[in-house]
Amino acid sequence: MTTQILPTDHPELLRKGVEEAVRLLLAGEVVGLPTETVYGLAADALNADAVAKIFSVKERPTFDPLIVHLPHKSELDTVADVPEDIAPAIKQLVDRFWPGPLTLILPKKPCVPDIVTAGLPTVAVRASANLVFNRVARKLERPLAAPSANRFGSISPTSAQAVMTELGGRIPLILDGGACMHGLESTIIKVRNVGETKPRFVILRPGPITPEDLKPFGRPFFPGKTKPYSSKSPDEPVEGDGIESPGQLESHYAPRTPLRVVDSPEEFTPEPGKTYALLSYRGEMDDGYMDLTDWKQIQVLSPGKGKLPEAAVRFFFALRELDKLGVDEIIAEPVPLHSGIGIAIMDRLRRASHPFRTP
Ligand code: TXA
Ligand code: MG
Repeated sequence: MTTQILPTDHPELLRKGVEEAVRLLLAGEVVGLPTETVYGLAADALNADAVAKIFSVKERPTFDPLIVHLPHKSELDTVADVPEDIAPAIKQLVDRFWPGPLTLILPKKPCVPDIVTAGLPTVAVRASANLVFNRVARKLERPLAAPSANRFGSISPTSAQAVMTELGGRIPLILDGGACMHGLESTIIKVRNVGETKPRFVILRPGPITPEDLKPFGRPFFPGKTKPYSSKSPDEPVEGDGIESPGQLESHYAPRTPLRVVDSPEEFTPEPGKTYALLSYRGEMDDGYMDLTDWKQIQVLSPGKGKLPEAAVRFFFALRELDKLGVDEIIAEPVPLHSGIGIAIMDRLRRASHPFRTP
């Protein structure tokens, strides 16, 4: 199959691209589309056969459920039943964060095929803020199931070219919407009313909507923690926590090259005869470690003073670049956890550091 990339950076090109995507989606095909987080591989969420293609194209195990994207935020009740006890909280979250990078886990409506939810009674749902994605969803007038447009377990794509590298030859079309605004996948939460004054938000996957962002509306918890998240003593979800998201496998987002997070790169000692690349946060030369090793390449996530949102945007792109080099190991510097998006970056970095696929 030939994979076509269509640009969307002019109103007429956008119109043509959207038309072609909708035509393919109506015919039960899968299409690569930009979202504000990462590129998605979209299919008509209510067409089980089309959704099955997502799993085969991605080589994704069918126990890993997909996110359903609504054409409009007012359409939540077309795919989910919002329990009465959390309805006010859900309304507040939808009003505040949709369209945007927040995914809610809610009881599903029968119209959502089992293949979408991997047989679970719940559905993951969000509304994307990306213009191109939105145009397609609204023209189609149907919800779109869309996981990240990478092969299972691999690095999420944040550009049309990255989707091409991952899935070229397997899908008919990618709409090019440029680089993704956030660069990390949406925050996934489950809302619980446990009789406290404020509902609990269990953060199943940290992302661009941070615990601080969620705080005005409820009490954010990481799974397995007994205390709510506090920015005064920021913690990250620890390995082995009761992770409820079935797709939240420990090894994920993995480059082919082994990756190691070192607490202080100054103390890293290269093994003779081995080649290394460095994923640095601020990349400050006077920190010393930049010249300590003969790095084949250094990718700096946020040069200068270091800004976490910038690091998030560049993260998967930088990882993809370093993975092309064929070095023995990628050495990564941790990012600070003082803001919620730092937690999301560290979550991806930690998962990327597990040996997952054999080259
Ligand atoms: O930003 C995003 O969320 C991107 C863009 C394309 O929207 N999508 C994305 O999808 O990251 P994916 O499939 O790569 O990740 C979806 C995650 C998986 O970890 C899956 O297990 C979890 O959502 N999930 C889906 N349905 C769920 C459910 N009913 N309960 C718990 N977790 C669920
Ligand atoms: Mg993914």
